[in-house]
Amino acid sequence: MCGIVGYVGGRSALDVVISGLRRLEYRGYDSAGVAVLADGGLASVKKAGKLANLEKALDEHPVPAGPAGIGHTRWATHGAPNDVNAHPHLDSAGRVALVHNGIIENFAQLRAELEERGRHLSSETDTEVVSHLLAEAFSSCADLAEAMRQVCRRLEGAFTLVAVHADEPDLVVGARRNSPLVVGIGDGEAFLASDVAAFIEHTREAVELGQDQVVELRRDGVLVTGFDGVPAEDVRAYHVDWDVSAAEKAGYDYFMLKEIAEQPRAVADTLLGRIGSDGALSLDEVRIPAAQLREVDKIVVVACGTAYHAGMIAKYAIEHWTRIPCETELASEFRYRDPILDGRTLVVAISQSGETMDTLMALRHAREQGAKVLAVCNTNGSTIPRESDAVLYTHAGPEVAVASTKAFLTQLVACYLVALYLGQVRGTQWGDEIATVIRELADIAGAVEDVLGTMEPVRELARGLAGKNTVLFLGRHVGYPVALEGALKLKELAYMHAEGFAAGELKHGPIALIEEDVPVVVVVPPPRGRSVLHDKIASNIQEIRARGARTIVIAERGDEAVRAYADHLIEVPPTPTLLQPMVATVPLQVFACELATARGNEVDQPRNLAKSVTVE
Ligand code: G6P
Repeated sequence: MCGIVGYVGGRSALDVVISGLRRLEYRGYDSAGVAVLADGGLASVKKAGKLANLEKALDEHPVPAGPAGIGHTRWATHGAPNDVNAHPHLDSAGRVALVHNGIIENFAQLRAELEERGRHLSSETDTEVVSHLLAEAFSSCADLAEAMRQVCRRLEGAFTLVAVHADEPDLVVGARRNSPLVVGIGDGEAFLASDVAAFIEHTREAVELGQDQVVELRRDGVLVTGFDGVPAEDVRAYHVDWDVSAAEKAGYDYFMLKEIAEQPRAVADTLLGRIGSDGALSLDEVRIPAAQLREVDKIVVVACGTAYHAGMIAKYAIEHWTRIPCETELASEFRYRDPILDGRTLVVAISQSGETMDTLMALRHAREQGAKVLAVCNTNGSTIPRESDAVLYTHAGPEVAVASTKAFLTQLVACYLVALYLGQVRGTQWGDEIATVIRELADIAGAVEDVLGTMEPVRELARGLAGKNTVLFLGRHVGYPVALEGALKLKELAYMHAEGFAAGELKHGPIALIEEDVPVVVVVPPPRGRSVLHDKIASNIQEIRARGARTIVIAERGDEAVRAYADHLIEVPPTPTLLQPMVATVPLQVFACELATARGNEVDQPRNLAKSVTVE
């Protein structure tokens, strides 16, 4: 949510900042802007809309080349997405430029104070307040980092701030509370960004900023201090283990298509290195002692969006394999209902980005109540794993498209591993049982590849439905979260009315929505194993078909029982019931992507959304 870039060094700051913003545009694309220090002054250009609008404006009004600069791509919170509210925000004299990600909660009070002192603020944003405060603080201390620390001590809320001052032409200053900010260290140059993707083409050496820290970036190095001015001791440097090609489209029209195609690899990578030489599961990053895990008497999974759907599926696996009661809850609701938590509760927080504010707040609440928190996360060094007791990283690689695909499949793998690991530690699963599931999981990469190879009829079907207004999704058991995920993908990308239902609930209301030719996607569980599940859903298909629905049935290859009721049959390879979401979700991703394309929508950057939502 909002992408920020800062640079100081020997290259053209403007070029570095623009190419960084291009890689961060997934975080917000309501407006974009830059500020560059050059010729003893400060030049800034900003524009509503996508980065392309800013680039056009820069062509018309070029800024001088300079060694230091900052940039921003916005997901609007305070104030409409127009030119004036775009970042950077400058002080009245035009000497300070500031970009911000997050929300300053006490901005109204600070704005009133500034206005009382006769300052004129031109935008509706919370950010502009900070640029004026920063200019005031600088005028008394003549030290931008110190001014930033003084201002940060007055701010409430979540914020990443990055600023430059025309009087300090070789300095960029950043500050971080609750929103992401990483530092890149190059040779005679340094970078700041919301995500390493912004500078990965220049350096893979990164430094994580902690909570309530200020960083000074100069050509010859970086200095990190707390908001109190004390030099930070816990500065953690790390090497980014993916390269620039992972952050590019590699010939695909959209990142989403690339990321869908990468799923077999991502699933296999998430399994890598999890089995010790003795055949037992070893999850290195799970640092909660086995004795404590044996004491756990309740598990709560918290997450948002697609990650929440992964969490819903995790519940089935966790309860089945560990026999520990498990609930899955929307992170945004969790702490407001005063959940019952104690030292024997394990909270599993799932987040691709590791920065989702709702999930972060849920985990903080859980830890305050004494619960242990295990994060399932795709982003090394992000806030959620940093603040958790343990982390299991998914190895999906960078996910850029706003609609989550490969992160979801790898979250599922990670959740299955967590469930099996708990089963191993608590003795509810024998080694050979775990080994069987691991083998089945290892086969899933091939099964996903198989699904991907058979998607042309799904694309054709999607194109044929581009004129529809509604698509419904039904599933039972683990197929129910798959139905929800299919509907979410369609809402996000195709802007269609799409709803997922538990198939059994159909008769309690939603069946009234069924009319002639309404497309209904039904996720059918494998016929083997829980045959009662399969039979029930086969009846549900007949019920809706009798009322005129156009049935799109996702079923296991060779499941002849449902063929007769399917207007369109999408076959997936056989899997155990609990693992079926890993193959059944893939056609729904392809379906949504193709429908969005057919309707002329932006696939990677759907309207109103952002990939990483760092506000509550
Ligand atoms: C946003 C994205 C969703 C994502 C959700 C959770 O809403 O648009 O695609 O599922 O955030 O993100 P996280 O990074 O916590 O998995």
